[in-house]
Amino acid sequence: MLVDKPKIDLGVNIDHIAVLREARKINDPDPLMALAICAQSGADQITIHLREDRRHIHDDDARRIISSSPIPVNLECAIDPDIITIVTALNPHRATLVPEKRAEVTTEGGLDVMGSYDAILNTINILKDSEIEISLFIDPTIQAVELSKKLGAQWVELHTGTYANLYAMRYSALPHSHHAIDELRATRGELDVQLQKALNDIKIAADHAHSIGLKVAAGHGLNYHNVTAIVSMNNITELNIGQSIIARSIFTGLGSAVKEMKSLCQR
Ligand code: PXP
Repeated sequence: MLVDKPKIDLGVNIDHIAVLREARKINDPDPLMALAICAQSGADQITIHLREDRRHIHDDDARRIISSSPIPVNLECAIDPDIITIVTALNPHRATLVPEKRAEVTTEGGLDVMGSYDAILNTINILKDSEIEISLFIDPTIQAVELSKKLGAQWVELHTGTYANLYAMRYSALPHSHHAIDELRATRGELDVQLQKALNDIKIAADHAHSIGLKVAAGHGLNYHNVTAIVSMNNITELNIGQSIIARSIFTGLGSAVKEMKSLCQR
């Protein structure tokens, strides 16, 4: 008998469209056009990050995207009172709280849920007065999952960056990564062990989160090669993917890039 596996939704992160625009500081390419193409091509959600330094998405982008999107918008943001005031006014479908450092190229890891417990709680208490769903971007550990539940989040998004970096090091001998593990001169055999552990950590965290009533997303560094192992984890119900889709879209067009990723998200 065929049993339907729970489907996995695809959230497309379109920050990189704004990164390209900001390279010239003009109005082209417009993230709003990307939203329309992603929605037409099967994306289930749009993800954008309103950074404190506004290096890509601006307040006006967020406002236009949230007010006109035909699909839910997941707004990533820092635990910062000024940003949270803006987020509350924008009223996206979901807010994903992420750690943010000015100097980083991209989000480098999950929230320090233990160390920032009170700050996260204050932020959640503000957001709870709105209709906005709350997600915490966390490292795949049982402790971070447990604390997220205690804090009252509805969602966790598990950080897949460590897995993605190990995958890149194992299969393409990528000499750089934004994680400290690039210091490590590991053999392929050692990388296989670390890769398996990184996957197990994600699966254990996802299963535990699901078992205590949290909805589970995952993302960071996922691409057309490494996504399959994550898709096979049944308790993960959503992936947020940006860089690899936008990179591919340069060669194939955004619609094809989204459709291709969506087809890899079928279980
Ligand atoms: N999820 C979160 C919380 C992120 O911060 C990012 C990057 O902005 C992504 C997913 C997407 O990561 P990537 O661009 O590597 O696919």
